[in-house]
Amino acid sequence: MIKAVRGTRDLLGAELSYKRWIERTAERVLEAAGAREIETPILEEAPVFEKGVGPTSDVVQKEMYALTDKGGRRLVLRPEGTAGVMRAFLEHGMKVRPMPVKLYYRGPMFRAERPQKGRYRQFYQVGYEAVGLAEPAIDAEAIALLLDLLEALGLRRHRLKVGTVGDPEDRRRYNAYLKEALAPYREALSEDSRARLERNPLRILDSKDPRDQAVLEEARIRPLLAFLSPEARDHYRAVIATLRALGVEFEEDARLVRGLDYYVRTAFEVHHPDLGAQAALGGGGRYDGLTALLGGPSLPGVGWAVGTDRVILALKAEGLPAPAEPAPALYLVPLDPPAVAEALALAEALRPRHRVELAYQPRRPGKGIREAERRGARFVGFLGEGERSRGTISVKDLASGEQKELPRAKLGSWLEAL
Ligand code: HAM
Repeated sequence: MIKAVRGTRDLLGAELSYKRWIERTAERVLEAAGAREIETPILEEAPVFEKGVGPTSDVVQKEMYALTDKGGRRLVLRPEGTAGVMRAFLEHGMKVRPMPVKLYYRGPMFRAERPQKGRYRQFYQVGYEAVGLAEPAIDAEAIALLLDLLEALGLRRHRLKVGTVGDPEDRRRYNAYLKEALAPYREALSEDSRARLERNPLRILDSKDPRDQAVLEEARIRPLLAFLSPEARDHYRAVIATLRALGVEFEEDARLVRGLDYYVRTAFEVHHPDLGAQAALGGGGRYDGLTALLGGPSLPGVGWAVGTDRVILALKAEGLPAPAEPAPALYLVPLDPPAVAEALALAEALRPRHRVELAYQPRRPGKGIREAERRGARFVGFLGEGERSRGTISVKDLASGEQKELPRAKLGSWLEAL
């Protein structure tokens, strides 16, 4: 039998109820803050991510699903949302709108990573971007909105970490320092980190390999914070102060490194203790200048994305159930052949205000009741010869067992009154 591709999965039942709940909650939380939805294509030209996310990131180097189409264009299945949203921002000239322009999106992302719990090759994100203002208050608001979303869903055990990755100039200074400070320990580093030492030493801070952790300990590596320009330091302090003023709970993380290259200054992640190795529920940061990498004017921006799949795992771990699957209010049972079309006409008349299902063949009442119960219906409605001659319907409440006959024309308002 043909199965779903490794690292992808079908979403149905409770899983899909969770996903819809998360997306609707995000809609409510983010629209209240002035964000509008945007939907960009899954397929983008490769340079959107090569230039946007950055050529040294793992995402671009190892994890992109890339293809060449019949016209010889290099296309990729988007590995993340931000670069595509900024491409669209430029393409639609959104920079003439009042700033900040706040956008949110939902949808599938693709990364060719090794699948494990909480890590898929096709996964889903809800993301938020605020473009056009460099003020620290926008960073703090973005972070607060991420927590608002998780809290609106009822989550409690997540932890927020906030840090700074500095400006590109700060990072150049810091990378030069790291290169020098770690050179004597080269042989003690993992193979990956030896390569990082050449390309992007900052990434070593993010390594989970115990050998690298031991080296970082022993070499007494100073934090990036010590290498920030005064402007970047002031920005960071202002974000932290604003978060405190908002009463947001967080931990400062001097070693926070994000996997994508476009970040400057503010960076943050939310982790959940019950998720195992893939503990990041979401993350984001500031990405001033990303629009310039994509060929437009340089604009500031800040945003985040949550991994919907992981939020579902966290909701389950905290014992928060998915919204109940919808059940019909009424299940219509024709008792003789002429009643079939009548039942269908009645169902059509009641929809879509009421959720109505029906049997498509005449049924005996007992069987009709069993069918209604299996579908979780609240009421079962019988249509037979007697009801037809009187223009009525017999309705039985499946919880109380009570049954009564109503004029058909009254059924809609009767259901509404309940
Ligand atoms: P990211 O940290 O790469 O950031 O991804 C955000 C979230 O997506 C992660 O925290 C995680 O929950 C989820 N995620 C990532 N990879 C996988 C996977 N393979 N399987 C399941 N979930 C996954 C971004 O993507 C940035 N675009 C966020 C951003 C928006 N920064 C600024 N604006």
